[in-house]
Amino acid sequence: MKLASRAARTILRLRNRVDFALRQSLRFRRAVTSVRADSLAATLSELPAPDAARARRLVDRYRLEPSLATMGARDQHESLAYADLLDTIGPGASIALPPSPVSALDIGASHWLYAAALHGFLAAWGDVGPRAVALTGIEIDPWRMYGDGHTRHDWARWYSRDLPGASYAHGDARTISRTFDVVTMLFPFVAIGELARWSLPESAYDPVGLLRHTWSLVAPDGYLIVVNQGEEEAAIERSMLRTLGIDAVELPPYESPFFAYRHPRVAFVARRVSSP
Ligand SMILES: C[S@@+](CC[C@H](N)C(=O)[O-])C[C@H]1O[C@@H](n2cnc3c(N)ncnc32)[C@H](O)[C@@H]1O
Repeated sequence: MKLASRAARTILRLRNRVDFALRQSLRFRRAVTSVRADSLAATLSELPAPDAARARRLVDRYRLEPSLATMGARDQHESLAYADLLDTIGPGASIALPPSPVSALDIGASHWLYAAALHGFLAAWGDVGPRAVALTGIEIDPWRMYGDGHTRHDWARWYSRDLPGASYAHGDARTISRTFDVVTMLFPFVAIGELARWSLPESAYDPVGLLRHTWSLVAPDGYLIVVNQGEEEAAIERSMLRTLGIDAVELPPYESPFFAYRHPRVAFVARRVSSP
């Protein structure tokens, strides 16, 4: 039995290595041109009254209407969940963003469904009016294809198409060398099993190295925001942060009224204190 599962793991590892190399060289692109949108008003009206009011406040505060109005109901719900999560992180970690502009890097952006929510948060969090945003989403595996024939790259371009200052890039975050006011890692791989299930090769598994490098990308007075799913992953993150001497605030587990996640979200926020 043990032998069989070891063999299965070896086959998966080899397959991931070959598939990843193939994806990186083929780089399929087929722009998303049309999406069946659902009425945002209808989506909100189906929520219980308190949740609908909370959703409306998020839509208004973070100016989500133009993006959400072009999405299907499932994406609208998930976008609201990301906006709500960030909206709880803002006060929970006393985040104070610079007046304008704000620069940000989102590591492991995948297909960037939440680009509008993140962009809206960066633009509007705090007392300052909407600020200019320079947001880059970086993804090591953007050429992974979905059942609809579009890659993550295609979808990320579509989700971020109307967000001023937003761009999506193919790359390994460990090769970036400039700093940002905000660096986000939303659901990074902290366990090798997850990485293999998402069909990445083992060379991409470097959670401590990635976290150490990510911290070096945070500008003085800037923020690192890491969110994990479930206590098991949060425990690994907590221990990595401690090992690296990164002093982070941990927020209470977040459960979304807008999207039924399997595990509650646990956010860690660290501010890089500028030297006196
Ligand atoms: C669990 S997914 C999370 C995706 C997304 N942030 C979200 O909230 O849905 C983690 C992502 O990180 C990407 N990734 C892993 N290591 C990376 C690296 N060194 N640089 C850039 N992206 C990386 C993976 O390919 C994967 O898309």
